[in-house]
Amino acid sequence: MAEQGTPETTGTTAIFGAGVMGETLLSGLLRAGRDKDRIVITEKRTDHAAKLREKYGVEVLDNPVAASRAEVLVLVVKPQDMEGLLAEIHDHVAPGNLVVSLAAGIPTAYLESRLPEGSSVVRVMPNTPALVDQGMAAISPGQHCTATHLAEAEALLASCGKVVQVPERYQDAVTAISGSGPAYIFYVVESMIEAGVLLGLPRATATELVVQTLYGAATMLRETGDHPTVLRERVSSPGGTTIAAIRQLEDHKVRAAFMTAMEAAAARSAALAAGLE
Ligand SMILES: NC(=O)c1ccc[n+]([C@@H]2O[C@H](COP(=O)([O-])OP(=O)(O)OC[C@H]3O[C@@H](n4cnc5c(N)ncnc54)[C@H](OP(=O)(O)O)[C@@H]3O)[C@@H](O)[C@H]2O)c1
Repeated sequence: MAEQGTPETTGTTAIFGAGVMGETLLSGLLRAGRDKDRIVITEKRTDHAAKLREKYGVEVLDNPVAASRAEVLVLVVKPQDMEGLLAEIHDHVAPGNLVVSLAAGIPTAYLESRLPEGSSVVRVMPNTPALVDQGMAAISPGQHCTATHLAEAEALLASCGKVVQVPERYQDAVTAISGSGPAYIFYVVESMIEAGVLLGLPRATATELVVQTLYGAATMLRETGDHPTVLRERVSSPGGTTIAAIRQLEDHKVRAAFMTAMEAAAARSAALAAGLE
């Protein structure tokens, strides 16, 4: 890797594909104080593009023009649209610029092989809490990525949450844990709300109890730094109510089910990537 440098580009950042994740990143960058004149977007749906121009005041360009203009190119199209996008921008990516991909399951080698020789690429696995600036993104450098470019990618993603750097071989596991993770948590929340309704609580009350409990527990985990086992043991008194419930979860192999589920997600992520070549 090359020398450390300034973490944030002073040039233009282009977001290719301003759908759910692209708009999330765009709004995060603006909230974090990035100048709207240094961000451009591209978007296939012209009506949606016009709405984004109106809402955020950013310029909307065609892919080749945006690729020529930008120092940092952020690719946020669906994996199946990536090949077409790379073909469109190939001849317009200047040497020394950074290409950041947020597409699930697309390896850096795939991107590098479809960009000019020596292109600096960073692969990112984001997640949807980025919408509320509480995202968790894992970033991995491609083979030509400099330390400066990796720091630039980190600064980009830090606008809507936390960022960790991981070797690319961990990206399937990351996809299974934090990429898909919000869905598992929503599933647990749904289950607890149903349990509240079963126990006779009005649905709105059950929902409020569960959502605030989740928020409180997550805040405790983050702020105390204590291990979850320690926190759980503190609310499991001998012969009490909590341990009676935990015993049922153990009997139903809920812990094993979580492990198997995430193994399946990682395997699916690897299979999707393998199907690309
Ligand atoms: N949403 C998530 O939770 C999440 C989480 C992790 C990673 N990601 C990754 O983020 C990427 C985008 O996902 P998303 O949920 O934001 O998808 P999305 O809402 O469908 O956004 C993609 C946008 O790009 C547009 N597009 C397609 N081809 C294009 C092209 N050649 N040039 C310009 N725009 C183009 C699409 O238009 P059309 O609809 O007309 O095709 C669409 O508006 C995916 O690769 C996904 O793996 C998303």
